[in-house]
Amino acid sequence: MKTYQIAALAGDGIGPEVMREAIQVLRGVEKAFGLSFAITEAPVGWAGIDAAGKALPDETLALCKRSDSILFGSVGLPDRDPTIPKEERPERAALLRIRKEFGLFANLRPVQLPKALAHACPLRPERQGDGIDLLVVRELTGGMYFGQPKKTETVSEGVQRAIDTMVYTTPEIERIAHVGFKAARLRRKKLTSIDKANVLENGILWREVVTRVGKEYPDVTLEHMFVDNGAMQLMLKPTQFDVMLCENMFGDILSDEAAALAGSLGMLPSASLGVTAGDQTFGFYEPAGGTAPDIAGKNLANPIAQILSCALMLRFSFGLKDASAAIERAVSVAIDSGLRTGDIYNPLDPKAIKTGTREMGAAITAAVRR
Ligand code: IPM
Ligand code: MG
Repeated sequence: MKTYQIAALAGDGIGPEVMREAIQVLRGVEKAFGLSFAITEAPVGWAGIDAAGKALPDETLALCKRSDSILFGSVGLPDRDPTIPKEERPERAALLRIRKEFGLFANLRPVQLPKALAHACPLRPERQGDGIDLLVVRELTGGMYFGQPKKTETVSEGVQRAIDTMVYTTPEIERIAHVGFKAARLRRKKLTSIDKANVLENGILWREVVTRVGKEYPDVTLEHMFVDNGAMQLMLKPTQFDVMLCENMFGDILSDEAAALAGSLGMLPSASLGVTAGDQTFGFYEPAGGTAPDIAGKNLANPIAQILSCALMLRFSFGLKDASAAIERAVSVAIDSGLRTGDIYNPLDPKAIKTGTREMGAAITAAVRR
């Protein structure tokens, strides 16, 4: 039997408590499916700085390199971040560094609003249609996040200039476009490519390349949309979207906007994938929400995003489709039974039972069945 090596980096804020529940669920999956996961925990973010002086300690990075995938919590603490130079802060020194180091160019953020949580969606019911179900495919290692030059310089006395560079090459656009079209094929076969081709050189190239790649997927309907319109359409008619294909910065922004539609950031998992070698795709799996320091350590955080990230890991990195589906089913069972952490609790719902991080995790673990 293969033992899957998982690096579990809980990080800061609510990271450790939601990670604890996710690991419990993985243990439940192990038992139910006769699988073997070797889960090794290591510090990252402020936990890394406190333990070993760096947001991404050398030993943590080495562990990631030895592992088949990374299960990540979240990093960064707004109170402490400004106390160290920006290059050393957890977001840049750990998160962005790992993305680049492992070539995790494809970020998948599935947004689903379960019927039972319709109340948590900020849109009126008639705008929710038969339910919101879309996938943001975000390019993750290019664009303005990494383009050079990237600096702040002094132009003259008292005047500074900040420069970020948006840069994409054809192969970078091609490979993320393929990810988007392949994902659309497994869904409702529609891809909306987001760009700003009316203003940006990058947008023009993006549109050309995506159109060309699209010819290889004649079964997928391709449409192009300017990013500003895309942001508006998400609010007006989110049900028109299946896959939204975005460059790095646009995907960052639109995925948070889309996430709000699902009721709570605490529900949203995400997968960041590199190139596939053999039958294995190295991946990085994390909840889309942040460290939420205000509720950390209080048994209030919603562990579902972290738990659903495990489901994505089993599917995309390990090819364990049944086990992955079992986690998603177990989450539905918990939701259908009325369990609600504060972020998805509706006091007007007579069936809703306000619950904590541990209780939600335990209910999901107990519901994992083959
Ligand atoms: C995300 C986050 C990160 C990003 C931050 C924390 C650097 O917002 O994963 O969406 O901008 O990519
Ligand atoms: Mg973001």
